Amino acid sequence: MADAPRPSPESFPEDLEDAILALKEERNAVLLAHYYQESEVQDLADFVGDSLALAQAATKVDRDVIAFCGVHFMAETAKILNPDRIVVVPDLEAGCSLADGCPPDEFRAFKKEHEGAKVLTYINCSAEVKAESDLICTSSNAVKMAQSLGDEPFIFAPDRHLARWVANQLGRDDLIVWPGACIVHEQFSAKRLAQLRVKHPDAEVLAHPECDQAVLDQADFIASTTGIIDRAVNSEAKTLIIATEDGVFHSIEQRAPEKTLIQAPGIDESCACNRCPYMRLNTLEKLYLCLRDLKPQVEVPEEIRVRALRPIERMLELSA
Ligand code: 13P
Ligand code: SF4
Repeated sequence: MADAPRPSPESFPEDLEDAILALKEERNAVLLAHYYQESEVQDLADFVGDSLALAQAATKVDRDVIAFCGVHFMAETAKILNPDRIVVVPDLEAGCSLADGCPPDEFRAFKKEHEGAKVLTYINCSAEVKAESDLICTSSNAVKMAQSLGDEPFIFAPDRHLARWVANQLGRDDLIVWPGACIVHEQFSAKRLAQLRVKHPDAEVLAHPECDQAVLDQADFIASTTGIIDRAVNSEAKTLIIATEDGVFHSIEQRAPEKTLIQAPGIDESCACNRCPYMRLNTLEKLYLCLRDLKPQVEVPEEIRVRALRPIERMLELSA
């Protein structure tokens, strides 16, 4: 789908934030944002959350339009839950390495190799892969969803690190794992984290379960973005080393400004690889344009939507 034509920068209103809020009312839109968005985008949102909270929020929308500031699979989930509402995103190219690394055709072939196995799929995948699944999970409910499938081996896709973490939590070694990974969480360096911990012996290490095992081995607390934020705010520790995208710093700084937050180091010191390149495609300018033009819109073919809805609804029921 082609993006809307972009006006030159000087054609943007001087106070972009006010213009976005005015457009939001004019369009009768709700603005949902993930914690990995730029702080100025989070500040305009009606609701900021992790993947599960955003899916839950999407079931309660009473506006005509959902402007989704996150990545494509999150907006797609909102559309699956709200087929009659318009769902727009600031940038249609905001994908995800996990979703991109699990093409539906290859996933169907993988399923055939393991005929009869139930399929638990991380929400970070396309609608078409969701449609092939029995149950969806997010990082905050993955263990609970896995438990609900019983004792038989099941397929877990598409994040091998989350799969390994879930298997460890359950003491299982029989999960059938699709070998995907998140380019952001995989780049944290266990070696450099160990060096940083020596410099900050009192710091608590908080990590997202998409990280590599050698990083998780050094974590005091492992959770979704919401879990990491709540822990950072409520922990006794004054200094927190955080192994996830640093968009979460904004909420922590608002709720606990006295805390010292340190980003877990990456393998490559010279890049800002801890920032999700997809999430960060969304800017205030693009948000303004998507509300003004009501495009780009997220669409899901009805046949896929209906099949993808079932495992999402099952997850929402089990998470209530
Ligand atoms: P959360 O489930 O913590 O929101 O994680 C989403 C995500 O994309 C992590 O990289
Ligand atoms: Fe996907 Fe990783 Fe970005 Fe999350 S941080 S949206 S898993 S690429």
